[in-house]
Amino acid sequence: MTRKLLEQAIEVLRKNDRGAYTVPTDGLYPFQWNWDSCLSALGFSHFDEDRAWTEVETLFVHQWDDGMVPHIIFHQHDDGYFPGPDVWRTGRKVPTSGITQPPVAGFAARRMFETATNREKIADRAKALLPRIHAWHEWFFRCRDPQGTGLVAIIHPWESGRDNSVDWDAAFQRVPTDGVEPFTRRDTQHANPEHRPTQAQYERYIWLVQKFRSLNWDNSKLHDASPFQLVDPGFNAILIRSCSDLAILAEHLEEHEIAAQSRQFAARGLAAMDALWSEKWGQYLCLDRTIGTLVDSPSIGGLLAAFAAIPSHRAGAIAARLTKLGEQVEYLVPSHDPSAPEFDSLRYWRGPVWLIVNYMIADGLTQAGETLIASRIKGDSVRLIEESGFAEYYDPRTAEPCGGGQFTWTAAMVIEILDPKLAT
Ligand code: DGY
Repeated sequence: MTRKLLEQAIEVLRKNDRGAYTVPTDGLYPFQWNWDSCLSALGFSHFDEDRAWTEVETLFVHQWDDGMVPHIIFHQHDDGYFPGPDVWRTGRKVPTSGITQPPVAGFAARRMFETATNREKIADRAKALLPRIHAWHEWFFRCRDPQGTGLVAIIHPWESGRDNSVDWDAAFQRVPTDGVEPFTRRDTQHANPEHRPTQAQYERYIWLVQKFRSLNWDNSKLHDASPFQLVDPGFNAILIRSCSDLAILAEHLEEHEIAAQSRQFAARGLAAMDALWSEKWGQYLCLDRTIGTLVDSPSIGGLLAAFAAIPSHRAGAIAARLTKLGEQVEYLVPSHDPSAPEFDSLRYWRGPVWLIVNYMIADGLTQAGETLIASRIKGDSVRLIEESGFAEYYDPRTAEPCGGGQFTWTAAMVIEILDPKLAT
């Protein structure tokens, strides 16, 4: 069974491979997405190391001069997606979006380097990527943490990757919809509209895009100008983890300055993260930076925080919370607390399970020694695939497959979890 699943997963990656990058899935997402690519590279690294590095390298070819790595690279024309380059208008030769996404590249690069069959052979490629990834991390702390708090804010829900999380609902009340140019959504033509964000959310997504566009995508202005500034513990944990992993990669490559700066970023972030802890929920919460208060929303963002090296008593509390959540659903980890009134088991990030987040939470908890709950999460992830194939996300109660099918990063995570070397 394991061998068959692995073969199917590899087939999904091959099918979505466009040569130097992969699309998340045919139709719904026809371009290169930032964190999809970096996590998908991990899947490739098990059977085609060269192709894995190319995936990340292609992404970084499109890094902006200020250090930002955009969330979408529009490599080729495709009418099937909205909003396309004509809406973003970022002025790049190969068009890109103008916002970013969770920075998993540092984590992925260290992992691909350490698992390489021949480190010497890929050392030059790793060395070339290292300063670019570091420049992205520096960009985050410069442009998304202008007050130097140690934690960065996202300025658009799409940056979090958790587009329609309940976490953003209250702050979204402050995002207006006046002046939004008329548009036709394409996502609802590829996927069930009941599984996707609502029209009201889309209008606000586009209002923010138009706002940033009116400021010429100048990152020295966007943070302060945005009515939406959310400090997401999951997003920050990914950044912190990538900084510490980049520090270790930099040491391997004898780039001591990058290593020292990266360690400093991670230490500052970890110290600041504790202010996001909620005793009431036994997990971290988002901070609404505009009004300076925690968002009382028990989402998966506060559990994903375990991906960073949080203190062991916090990891223990998150493990306990996950065990409790596991009594309410058949498959961990629901993207929102099933007992909360906003929970919606089928709608994107308001309830469904996502394998990439499962993978990161399980990895962090394993590092923290919470192996029992990490095994449950990994086991549930594999059962979901056996039950419903390589979907974009799943109902945590019934395993109903949702969103797009034949999904690249879902397949990549299966390869990571099952590890072909162990399956032979
Ligand atoms: C989408 O189009 O749904 C993406 O999540 C935005 O990047």
